[in-house]
Amino acid sequence: MTVGVIGGGQLGRMLALAGYPLGLDFLFLDPSREAPAGRVAPVVHGAFTDPQLLKWLSRECQVLTFDWENISVEALRKHACGARRARICPPVSALATAQDRVAEKRLFERLGIPTTRWHAVGSRPALERALREVGLPGVLKTRRMGYDGKGQMRIRTHEDALRAWQSLGSVPLIYEEWVPFECEVSIIGARSTRGQTVFYPLNGNVHADGILRVTRAPYGPARWHRTAVDYLTRCLEHFRYAGVLTIEFFVRNGRLIANEMAPRVHNSGHWTIEGCATSQFENHLRSILGLPLGSTRPTGHSAMINLIGEMPAREALLAFEGLHLHEYGKEPRPGRKLGHCTLVEESTTRRDRLARRLLARVAPGVRLP
Ligand SMILES: Nc1ncnc2c1ncn2[C@@H]1O[C@H](COP(=O)(O)OP(=O)(O)OP(=O)(O)O)[C@@H](O)[C@H]1O
Ligand SMILES: [Mg+2]
Repeated sequence: MTVGVIGGGQLGRMLALAGYPLGLDFLFLDPSREAPAGRVAPVVHGAFTDPQLLKWLSRECQVLTFDWENISVEALRKHACGARRARICPPVSALATAQDRVAEKRLFERLGIPTTRWHAVGSRPALERALREVGLPGVLKTRRMGYDGKGQMRIRTHEDALRAWQSLGSVPLIYEEWVPFECEVSIIGARSTRGQTVFYPLNGNVHADGILRVTRAPYGPARWHRTAVDYLTRCLEHFRYAGVLTIEFFVRNGRLIANEMAPRVHNSGHWTIEGCATSQFENHLRSILGLPLGSTRPTGHSAMINLIGEMPAREALLAFEGLHLHEYGKEPRPGRKLGHCTLVEESTTRRDRLARRLLARVAPGVRLP
């Protein structure tokens, strides 16, 4: 059984590593010779839109999935879907919605999931309307292609908005209210092609400069988890989804406000590799192949810390008792995710103490609330 993966980044690499014990094989498509998945699985190199490669991949594989959101929905529909071609999971409709922040907001509203107030911004007059209707402060984001906080600018004043328009306005934008949140959480769940669903414990996420730094799980009161599961279920059923789906939330006055969704395994779920009975990667594979889903029971209190920009010395990290290290084999570059480490402890007190010590070493600027 061969799983085709469009995108050979660290998420794809961890998918392959989770799939080998199940007896699965993998084929990746990625333009980069340095794609992290290339160290563990065969990669065909070419554009994500290459008609020949997409057709070939969908003939060679039983199922196609993706580890990267910014791939062309049009190319997928045209070259990878159809008779005698592999199924694509998650559904392309979910990918199309997640690629466009406006479509995503409309879906949340349609499904009764609270989200930030927003206004589409396609012109200068629309920007003025957005500022009037949504108010200040806010954030201006590109509708498409954003990740790790790229393509967005915080707006505190009218002048900020004009400056942001100058630098971002060449593409369609969305203006959102700035939410003074107490914390950020995310929920990850899987739905199989047979309709079985499982949900992971809630993740508590700390971002800096728009990029995820730390996740702790299980996190927050049971009430938040129940609400998040309810919202995620609405999305899973809406798309008749297959695979892992993530929703990120702001928590404000104890209310969950949806920020965005990701139709794939998610950085805030990396802790599930060591911290849960079955990882998000394995459950993604099980769900797209119609296999029974694995238990999401946590094995302790986990903290996941991203290693960003430069890799700390391996010796220093491994000297932390119980630390699990994941290096993705990427060239260091400022702001780039190069790896992560996970701690699984018996108590939240011990986990947070160790996580703070580790953070002081690898990301001195990042504070754990
Ligand atoms: N409206 C908002 N109010 C408050 N904080 C926000 C808002 N929008 C974004 N942020 C902050 O910036 C982070 C990144 O924003 P967002 O999730 O929209 O970006 P992204 O580039 O799609 O990120 P990802 O890497 O999760 O795909 C959020 O997790 C949050 O910390
Ligand atoms: Mg996000």
